[in-house]
Amino acid sequence: MLRFLTAGESHGPALVGILDGMPAGLPLLASDIDFELKRRQHGYGRGGRMKIEQDRVEILSGVRHGRTLGSPIALRIANRDWANWQKAMAIEPIEIAEQERKRVTRPRPGHADLAGALKHDADDARDILERASARETTARVAVGAVCKKFLREFDVHVASHTVALGSAGLPAGAEVAWDRILAAEGSPLRCADKATEQSMIEEIDRAMQARDSVGGSFQVVARGVPAGLGSHRHWDLRLNARLAAALCSIQSIKAIAVGDGFEAAGKMGSEFHDEIHYDKETRRFYRTSNHAGGIEGGISNGEEIRVRVYVKPLSTLPKALHSVDLKSKEEFQAQVERTDVSAIAAAGVVGEAMAAFVLAEAFLEKFGGDSIKEITRNFLGYIEQLRNY
Ligand SMILES: Cc1cc2nc3c(=O)[nH]c(=O)nc-3n(C[C@H](O)[C@H](O)[C@H](O)COP(=O)(O)O)c2cc1C
Repeated sequence: MLRFLTAGESHGPALVGILDGMPAGLPLLASDIDFELKRRQHGYGRGGRMKIEQDRVEILSGVRHGRTLGSPIALRIANRDWANWQKAMAIEPIEIAEQERKRVTRPRPGHADLAGALKHDADDARDILERASARETTARVAVGAVCKKFLREFDVHVASHTVALGSAGLPAGAEVAWDRILAAEGSPLRCADKATEQSMIEEIDRAMQARDSVGGSFQVVARGVPAGLGSHRHWDLRLNARLAAALCSIQSIKAIAVGDGFEAAGKMGSEFHDEIHYDKETRRFYRTSNHAGGIEGGISNGEEIRVRVYVKPLSTLPKALHSVDLKSKEEFQAQVERTDVSAIAAAGVVGEAMAAFVLAEAFLEKFGGDSIKEITRNFLGYIEQLRNY
């Protein structure tokens, strides 16, 4: 069983991730993880925090001489901003002046501040937002980097690209080919179309000038996934449901669509379903369209897995919204923390990490073993079985 937990507060000493169930023998270097952490920090519309943090992982366990041991992999990413927060976020009780506590008592609509404060009987919403903050996704990206490395051993690759931002976006139903997705890497918003990306940048600039934020969507694509991951047997084994839960667990994600899921509701069956063909030379079933997003009956069908992910506008607004003070119950404007205008490019990288975790988990279920060697044997045997089907 593959599983992970993260720990850490946004302005605490560090973020931590523990990934358990990764088999032995996977080549793994800190630089594999740092590469993904850097991708997460990139993107037009990010706030000042990303200029302070230059994330680097420290691998604390589970790896020896550049190979996984099969034991839990513990990852630590230091918060450089901790230097400025040692008093406000001190672990031990200390004497500090009230203004040094950096209390938050005017909850931001859309953030976890109010719901979390009520739930935990907190009179300072900082007790909640420090953990609710998407800084936590740093640890997820680190864990996801290990899962991506594992999947690459079997030629399975996960990528993402930005599809829409505010009113700018790629035309509805346009399927962006894998090579174009990879070519968008390093561009300001990781959008595959330059003109659309420019309109997205202008949307962000407009939102920034209006002291507002703006929502968007991205697509996660997994290539090389063999037919047969996930299962039709039970609700909690269906690959589409597992991807949906993992992706919706990311801060600010409000909806996902597997393939052309949203459009499907308005289509005829004959327009929507991907007709089946067979290539006798490569001995492989294939489709000429992929509206299903590579999953049918909760099982991967051998086509690219494509999931679109919808991100709400971020809730910390310089133009603060109406709120109420937790203590006095007086009406005020919500408190303003340092914030991004849009984190769409970063959210895509987090989406990749979560999708990679789910796919690695499903992969291990199907081809399970305790070492890369054993899993490779199982995997190749199955691929041969498919060719002889
Ligand atoms: C990569 C990333 C960066 C984010 N940065 C911010 C931010 O700077 N300001 C903000 O208000 N929300 C930000 N969020 C979203 C909040 O963390 C999220 O809205 C909040 O935790 C409430 O959770 P919910 O939106 O899932 O309900 C970010 C989300 C992601 C994925």
